[in-house]
Amino acid sequence: MFKSLVRLEHIMEMSIEKQLTHRSIRKYKDRPVEEEKVQIYLEVMNRTACRGMQGYSVIRITDEKLKEAIGEAIQQEYIKKLPELLIFIIDLYRFKELTDRLAPGKVQHYYFDIAFVAIGDMYLAAQNMMNAIETDGLGGLFLSTVADNLPEMKKLLNLPELTLPLLGLGFGYPDENPELSPRLPIEVKLSENTYEPISQKLDALKIYDEELISYYQKLGREHIQTYSQMVAKRITGEAPLYAYLLNELEAMGVDLCIND
Ligand SMILES: Cc1cc2nc3c(=O)[nH]c(=O)nc-3n(C[C@H](O)[C@H](O)[C@H](O)COP(=O)(O)O)c2cc1C
Repeated sequence: MFKSLVRLEHIMEMSIEKQLTHRSIRKYKDRPVEEEKVQIYLEVMNRTACRGMQGYSVIRITDEKLKEAIGEAIQQEYIKKLPELLIFIIDLYRFKELTDRLAPGKVQHYYFDIAFVAIGDMYLAAQNMMNAIETDGLGGLFLSTVADNLPEMKKLLNLPELTLPLLGLGFGYPDENPELSPRLPIEVKLSENTYEPISQKLDALKIYDEELISYYQKLGREHIQTYSQMVAKRITGEAPLYAYLLNELEAMGVDLCIND
């Protein structure tokens, strides 16, 4: 009993340490991930806290040619070198199939909240899976770029109506040991009892900017900017592809429920 408690403590410590040293891994050993491991990570994904409808699906890409085609479609060469690749999909088509069977001919509504909750569930599940992968000593990479070429992705994955591929998760045995990338200090994100604006936390911001600049310098980045500069550029810049996500949801049949 005592022995197993010590072991459990050790595992917990290891697990937290792995989460505190998260890094995205972009270079992998040419070594397959054992099938039993993949199955356990998938179990963890599936056990994640979720809302009742669980409106997401996952497509595991095991066909190397398909992996290559996905890489080409979204113009990401390194996709084909990912030992494992999962594509997370918002899946309201499952609801349609079930409703068609149970209530044929009845009008169906795909209100925005259903899609919104599905997106939340999908991200939580993906992050939980990442935790399992990292705790086990492997590494992973999230890929929002899988949504960069939706028409082609829909074709490649035979996606029906009411589905949307939103996130990729690549993982395997790391073949690199990148530095931790800086994060906004916790005191900037955390307030106590009442909202505290960043203007009250400029000292912490300064420390972050210094960390960020030296991190980018080490990476040899050409255009180095502070956090404020990055934020202001984004907020005053043009809309990226992702900004049009609501259009995509509407086109796939979701009622955005926007008041006039
Ligand atoms: C939802 C999500 C989507 C991401 N999509 C991509 C991506 O498409 N391509 C990529 O190279 N990195 C992607 N990343 C990784 C981030 O760039 C990375 O997490 C960030 O630079 C911080 O680095 P770190 O993960 O090593 O701490 C994504 C991360 C998240 C959370």
